[in-house]
Amino acid sequence: MRLQKYIASCGITSRRNAEELIRNKRVKINGVVMDQMGYTVKEDDRVELDNQLIKIDERMVYIVLNKPVGYITTVSDEQDRPTVMDLLTDLDTRVFPVGRLDNNTSGLLIMTNDGQMSYKLTHPKHKIYKTYLAMVQGMITQGDIEKLTRGVDIGGYITAEAFAKITEYKQNCSIVEIKIHEGKNRQVRRMFKAVGHKVIELERIALGELKLGKLKSGHYRKLTKQEIDYLQEI
Ligand code: URA
Repeated sequence: MRLQKYIASCGITSRRNAEELIRNKRVKINGVVMDQMGYTVKEDDRVELDNQLIKIDERMVYIVLNKPVGYITTVSDEQDRPTVMDLLTDLDTRVFPVGRLDNNTSGLLIMTNDGQMSYKLTHPKHKIYKTYLAMVQGMITQGDIEKLTRGVDIGGYITAEAFAKITEYKQNCSIVEIKIHEGKNRQVRRMFKAVGHKVIELERIALGELKLGKLKSGHYRKLTKQEIDYLQEI
């Protein structure tokens, strides 16, 4: 990390002011004054401001992103495709996605630098229900809904109990709200396929009690204290 960004990430001043501090020779690296803006801080460098050791503010950051279709849920992509990280403009702290949404799925994605929280939210033993709105081809019947609820074979695996309800029929499509607590690869799409329907659009609208709400596509916001407490208590 560049020195000026490092200083700003210590939570003591802005990036611009950090440059001023460097220029004024108030910053030392390993005991030696460093007045070059582009210096890259190494893992074990001792950074001092006015002879006081300063460290990156390790406070936890929790955000919810409304992921648009066409963004990969990963920190970096070998093929240089757009990733969810590209949407986090203006965020100084590095966060990573909790779990995964497919490239062609949109909606609620938690991102944090809290590894413990991420581990907990993705561990199957906690059975956290994720709610999706699926637009599927054709007319879903009550019989299909019962099958989805009881569990279907998605290719050598029978899905656990789920909740599903038809919310609307639109032309030749059905909109179904479905809640699952497992996270098998492309699970919702495969569940609908198992009852003979192709998913055309898929959006995650909630994780447990945490709702996507009116957050615009491609936008993110920090979680409120209550929301963080809720996730921590799960
Ligand atoms: N189920 C899917 O099929 N895709 C997702 O992105 C999430 C759940």
